[in-house]
Amino acid sequence: MKGIVVDSIKKTYISKEGFRKKRVVEALKGVSLTVGSGEIHALLGPNGAGKSTLVKILATLLLPDSGRAYVDGYDVVREAEKVRRVIGIVLDVSKGFYTSLSGYENLVFYALLKGYSYQEARRRAKEVLELVGLYEMNAHNRPYYTYSLGMRARLSIAKALLTNPPVLLLDEPTLGLDVESAKAVRKLITDLAKEGRTVLITGHNMHEIEQIASSITIIDSGRVIVSGNPSELKAKLGLMLKVSTRIEGLHTPQILEKIKSFIPIEKASIEPLDSSTKIVFYTKASREEVVQSIMQMHSTLDLKILDLVVEEPTLEDAYIAVVGEGHGH
Ligand SMILES: Nc1ncnc2c1ncn2[C@@H]1O[C@H](COP(=O)(O)OP(=O)(O)OP(=O)(O)O)[C@@H](O)[C@H]1O
Ligand SMILES: [Mg+2]
Repeated sequence: MKGIVVDSIKKTYISKEGFRKKRVVEALKGVSLTVGSGEIHALLGPNGAGKSTLVKILATLLLPDSGRAYVDGYDVVREAEKVRRVIGIVLDVSKGFYTSLSGYENLVFYALLKGYSYQEARRRAKEVLELVGLYEMNAHNRPYYTYSLGMRARLSIAKALLTNPPVLLLDEPTLGLDVESAKAVRKLITDLAKEGRTVLITGHNMHEIEQIASSITIIDSGRVIVSGNPSELKAKLGLMLKVSTRIEGLHTPQILEKIKSFIPIEKASIEPLDSSTKIVFYTKASREEVVQSIMQMHSTLDLKILDLVVEEPTLEDAYIAVVGEGHGH
């Protein structure tokens, strides 16, 4: 299968901690996920969740303890060489370049390492610099040490693209970037996916990822918490719609009981205004059911609805519901 398949991957780190003492960290406790070909899949989770560990396993830089993983159909353990030929990796956007060389020179160097002839290496370096916008910014001939973080991120992506790989593994490619640069990098990633590339991108920021990912896996402490496309994720987390409505006339809280006979309500608040009543409630019903029930109430109970706003939960709400408020940025 094209794309990425991760099946029950486990990885434990054992590191020395002083004399005879060992520190054992189960970084991945049996993670599975699938990324369809040409899809942007986001792997989200708080610090230490195991995101980078999984990326490194897919990139053949680390061996899993057990489980299987395939990239574009190749086994990351048994066919590591083939996997390396189909992937482009960004592991740390601020590392891996010679600071006194220009972006162009750095890329020519890496292209030569990849086995391109000098002429091909120069052509390829120019192509990827154009692709990531550094050529246009006229930054390609400047020494790397003068690059802004945004330019460094672009150069990292350019390096990942040198061999024109069908699969990109991007570990926090927008880490530390300002809002504008992060947006530009996201746009670049979206464009790369449109060309048919499969992208696995990690991050902690749901708000950022929501805009580009077609499917998402949230992991925490080495386990998958939830996975699916954005709307499946919201549904799986049992997130409720927030309904705000205003009814003509002043009503007592008993009105909520009446509403409940039409639609299941989880949490509700009622607030008398001048000559109307504001009611806010949460419901597990769908948007269509909400609208239908409100219309029924309108005619059956003879309530005059002045206002109706149905709000969907955002993926950020979903993320916070799963990993807790403290982790969201
Ligand atoms: N080389 C290593 N040796 C020992 N423990 C490690 C090593 N690398 C990672 N760990 C531990 O494994 C766990 C998962 O780390 P990992 O880097 O995969 O998390 P992450 O989700 O990428 O976190 P972050 O958001 O901070 O980048 C953490 O507890 C981390 O301390
Ligand atoms: Mg990490």
